[in-house]
Amino acid sequence: MKITIVVGTRPEIIKMSPIIRECEKRDLDNFILHTGQHYSYNMDKVFFEQLELPEPCYNLDVGSSSHGEQTGKILIGIEKILLKEKPNIVLVQGDTNTVLAGALAASKLHIKVGHVESGLRSYDRSMPEEINRVVADHVSDFLFAPTENSKQILLNEGIDQEKIFITGNTIVDSVYQNLKLAEKKRNILDEFDLKQNEYFLVTTHRQANVDDKKRFKVILQGLSHLHKTYDLPVVYPIHPRSKKMMKNFGFDADGVKLVEPVDFLAFLQLENNARLVLTDSGGVQEETCILGRPCVTLRDNTERPETLEIGSNLLVGVDHEKMLEGVSTMLENNKEWENPFGNGTAGNKIVDILEGKNYE
Ligand code: UD1
Ligand code: UDP
Repeated sequence: MKITIVVGTRPEIIKMSPIIRECEKRDLDNFILHTGQHYSYNMDKVFFEQLELPEPCYNLDVGSSSHGEQTGKILIGIEKILLKEKPNIVLVQGDTNTVLAGALAASKLHIKVGHVESGLRSYDRSMPEEINRVVADHVSDFLFAPTENSKQILLNEGIDQEKIFITGNTIVDSVYQNLKLAEKKRNILDEFDLKQNEYFLVTTHRQANVDDKKRFKVILQGLSHLHKTYDLPVVYPIHPRSKKMMKNFGFDADGVKLVEPVDFLAFLQLENNARLVLTDSGGVQEETCILGRPCVTLRDNTERPETLEIGSNLLVGVDHEKMLEGVSTMLENNKEWENPFGNGTAGNKIVDILEGKNYE
């Protein structure tokens, strides 16, 4: 069995790492194909170094462009490599343009596709990620659903149940494997002059939030207001898309501590010690839930409804008042919950399933 592991962006590297480690541990014939969708050191290489992952065998270096151009370039590049390498299975993770192109390229060559983190739906087709998820799921042969809920979504869309496996989400593996290491190896609170439980952490990078001048302005004003209301630092490791848009719009962020994106161990530490996290990131909604930290999501919908059901997360949209009300509600609730995304063995389960198949 020969496995191609496709990655392209920050969350894919982080969430594929448990599977890569498992393949290495079992000495399986595998190689990493990086599309180069993310390429800045702090969005890409830092994670390979910190998580001690093998270097990608290929990097397509596609870089940034429009959706069509980026997806097209990845499709062309991946096809060539798959024709040469002839793997039995191509693994993709999540919902990026890399995932769409990787899944399409492989399925058109009749190579089996495994979709890690399958069955998530926001039911909002204006999000590029929703299109990517739906297409990837429908061309995949192995659908690794994190929860029962995601399995049901796939069944309701007519996907054969034999193809669906509930494995948990590999982000739980990543968090469990790295949290202790983070507390031992990193000291980001001191570096940023922060005190445990005495700051808010923010990430926002969704196209619909930061490419829209009005929405991005409301978010930044809301964060300034949050800082004034609680008199606590608001730390925002800013995604390059958001940084670019802030510059284009000529915005500043009064009262917000803007920092460059940080490495994974540092980010885990920031999440784990924050009083509350505000985000529009998919991965951050999951991680806060796993770490037991309250989360307020700056979106109108989420493909992670499990976090809403158990009360780790609250959707507030992009609205100044609702943002502050949401923070106050989550802080007053002071709830405890159980993580619904698995027990940290998703990578192991996925590789077990792949090893148990006959590819002739
Ligand atoms: C992509 C994914 C999104 C995911 C996010 C993870 C799609 C459609 N979107 O969004 O689902 O949540 O990655 O972070 O696939 N840039 C850099 N350096 C980099 C990468 C990007 O400077 O290493 C800047 C460029 O100006 C680029 C912009 O960020 O134009 C957006 O990058 P892109 O990969 O198109 O989308 P993301 O917003 O990163
Ligand atoms: N992350 C990180 N450094 C940062 C911000 C986020 O390592 O400065 C990690 C975070 O722990 C999570 C992942 O990046 O695992 C989330 O990626 P992102 O928000 O870019 O994408 P999404 O999850 O929304 O697709």
